[in-house]
Amino acid sequence: MNTDTMAFWHPVARSAELRPGANIVAGFAEGRELALWRSTDGTPQAWDNRCPHRSVRFTLGRVVQDRLACAYHGWEYAAGDGQCVRIPAHPAMPAPRNVCAEVFGAVDAAGMLWVNLASETPPTSPALADAVPAGWHFCRTLTLRAGAQDVHDALARRGFAIDAASGAWQGALGEVNTAALLLDAQTHLAFIHLWTEAPPGSDAMKALHAAARGLRATIETPPQG
Ligand code: FES
Repeated sequence: MNTDTMAFWHPVARSAELRPGANIVAGFAEGRELALWRSTDGTPQAWDNRCPHRSVRFTLGRVVQDRLACAYHGWEYAAGDGQCVRIPAHPAMPAPRNVCAEVFGAVDAAGMLWVNLASETPPTSPALADAVPAGWHFCRTLTLRAGAQDVHDALARRGFAIDAASGAWQGALGEVNTAALLLDAQTHLAFIHLWTEAPPGSDAMKALHAAARGLRATIETPPQG
């Protein structure tokens, strides 16, 4: 797998957060604000979070079967290509063909929804499925007021190593084996989705939670002197 290509796949949310034909979740990647949702067959959708009509956030809207309806004037956009397909105020008028939501590549793998912002989405990599070992459990998502490079450096100092194929960091936090999926959200905002072999509710899981808080304090505290 080409790691340059892999770098464009961002783990933006847990797959379980998105219910088919139901909710909309806000996401971020490389400074872009995203609206994440699923069509009724479960296919993930990742759109720029702005309605092309008057730029109202899509996350304020609602999912109507396989369409996303904007909260302001109710224009509806189709899953897949983001084409405007209905304008409620003018039901007899064909929707304008040149009005489309900006659509990004999206795929489920390893319990996460991954988004690719490239204008031409590269083929999905099977390696994404290996980002988290089978049977591991989700611990938490750590929000960090730091740039992605600072988080890279902190994980490396903790002995984590990046898997070039999947982009996941593998190592131990609180002496618990952990996979850390790093999301470059904005210039000074990053997220780490932590997965572990420790079962939910176990002492090892509690140790990982505590170690994660320590990691965040280390990253967000500027070096003294
Ligand atoms: S701003 Fe979205 S329909 Fe008008």
